[in-house]
Amino acid sequence: MGNEFKGQAAHSAEHFGDTRDHWWNRDFLQLIAKRWNLDAVRDVLDVGCGVGHWGMLLASVMPEHVRVTGIDRETIWVEQATARALARGLAKRFAYQQGEAQRLPFPDDSFDLTTCQTVLIHLPDPSAAIAEMLRVTRPGGLVMVAEPNNLTESLLLDSISNQASIDEIVELVRFQLTCERGKAALGEGDNSVGDRVPGLFVAQGLANVEVYVNDKAIAVFPPYASPEQRAFTEDARDRMGRRLWNWSEDEARRVFLAGGGAPGDFAVHFARALASRERIVRGLDDAAYHGIIGGAFYLVAGRKPARAD
Ligand SMILES: C[S@@+](CC[C@H](N)C(=O)[O-])C[C@H]1O[C@@H](n2cnc3c(N)ncnc32)[C@H](O)[C@@H]1O
Repeated sequence: MGNEFKGQAAHSAEHFGDTRDHWWNRDFLQLIAKRWNLDAVRDVLDVGCGVGHWGMLLASVMPEHVRVTGIDRETIWVEQATARALARGLAKRFAYQQGEAQRLPFPDDSFDLTTCQTVLIHLPDPSAAIAEMLRVTRPGGLVMVAEPNNLTESLLLDSISNQASIDEIVELVRFQLTCERGKAALGEGDNSVGDRVPGLFVAQGLANVEVYVNDKAIAVFPPYASPEQRAFTEDARDRMGRRLWNWSEDEARRVFLAGGGAPGDFAVHFARALASRERIVRGLDDAAYHGIIGGAFYLVAGRKPARAD
């Protein structure tokens, strides 16, 4: 099925494909539910819910009575998330509405668990969103976020990329970092904010802050037969067909220049980045590609201190 939302003119449309269903091991989330006592949770807020992947996955390791409210700034995702919940017979427990992470449309102390996945990486001021998440969480409740360091992916050395020269590998990292810095400079968030989230939690007053690394890694090898391997190969081919690297060419140029990249260097960088993806697709065609999909992806949680009245 791939990504039914690709090409939509809305935030993250290129990232709502089937691969998103394979980001977590269920038993890891069950362990997290145990560690953080999610059995006690009744009301969940999923901030920047998109079409609902994260909230639904998380709710699936929690008691059946939990109610999930999702908010997203994009009306189209609110509609799609609502339709998905309806199609799954979950409309009574999952409700979606439009809203901004930095101005959550809820009173103080409304939820037992406030969460988000890959949303802080898109915000100009992640601390402002964390402060809001803390505000709407009940005293003693949990704020829990899943956020990555995306730069780590540019250093994964699969059977194709490990043959590149050191210069080529380093230049790819430089290109990605320049683009990430540019995205942040434009006020669109830091794609690798994950490393700093625990410190931001502590600075906002969250207690018992803990962090775990997502234990999911997808090994990809011929004949690429498992559902998650197929999702990866379909996604890689689809992106290549549309000349998408981590960003489209126009988007990459915009963030590269904002990150201080020299205009004359962009074409070489982008062509190199795209060629590295082309080699992977050729490697898939020839059954020569094998590697691991993953990178540093953290789950960070902290408790809202109980009121000292
Ligand atoms: C990468 S997607 C993640 C979606 C969802 N959390 C998941 O993991 O499936 C980021 C989502 O955040 C939403 N978003 C971005 N900035 C936002 C903001 N300031 N307030 C609310 N939602 C926002 C986008 O519209 C998009 O749906």
